[in-house]
Amino acid sequence: SVAPASWDKPLAGKVAVVTGAARGIGATIAEVFARDGATVIVADIPAAGEALSDTANKIGATALALDVTAPDAAERLADFATERFGGIDIVVHNAGITRDKLLANMDEGRWSSVINVNLAAPHRITSGLVAKGVLKEGGRVIDVSSIAGIAGNRGQTNYGASKAGVIGMVDAESPLLAAKGITINAVAPGFIETAMTAAIPVGTREAGRLMSSLLQGGQTVDVAETIAYFASPASNAVSGNVVRVCGQSLI
Ligand code: NAI
Repeated sequence: SVAPASWDKPLAGKVAVVTGAARGIGATIAEVFARDGATVIVADIPAAGEALSDTANKIGATALALDVTAPDAAERLADFATERFGGIDIVVHNAGITRDKLLANMDEGRWSSVINVNLAAPHRITSGLVAKGVLKEGGRVIDVSSIAGIAGNRGQTNYGASKAGVIGMVDAESPLLAAKGITINAVAPGFIETAMTAAIPVGTREAGRLMSSLLQGGQTVDVAETIAYFASPASNAVSGNVVRVCGQSLI
């Protein structure tokens, strides 16, 4: 049946995990989830320290120092969420890094660190949580891809490959998770104003914004609200999709 218009806490009673949530897009996803009534766990690398606890305190979330690439990341997350909250309903694989270099200088370290954080870790954590039965029926997995995984980007073979891989992974995992009553979807943001994009030289940054068919970049909340839809009961029958946030790439 259609939800009533006054239904303003769509995630009430749900336990949501957001990785890479100390700042940027992840912090805003956590904030939107808290607004929507979820119990939120914000996870980030141990070095994020105070930024992570500040984010958590601001929205009444629980902080977890967790490097998503740690071999026992899924197990630690599963144990933490089970002990405190009895399981997980929603997991957002938002943690991500760039290590840009033109092809000739794209060394092995840059390649593997980006693939590990952006692609291998979400896969390992999703499979680990499902294997342990921690992700509940009706659960949601949401991956953060990028327009760079669809249209490519100069100096980002590693990043583009990782984010394109995320889209393939979501497509492949969707039927498997459906059998357990879990949906999986991805967002592919364009140029969003965060610390990640602030590191880009001004001219390139402006070009990045204008490469969108909307002719502008976006804010973290634009990505977070799209993810909130994938997390909510409104998207019960939506799985295996990738949604561009910030329009299409003009390149
Ligand atoms: P950001 O650099 O501001 O935040 C990323 C967060 O992830 C940081 O708090 C960082 O400590 C954390 N993180 C990094 N490695 C981690 C690890 N191994 N374990 C746990 N946490 C880790 O980046 P931003 O812009 O907020 O990006 C968030 C996601 O959105 C990333 O996956 C990024 O690739 C993606 N994205 C960003 C776009 C943008 O224009 N800002 C565009 C498209 C996608």
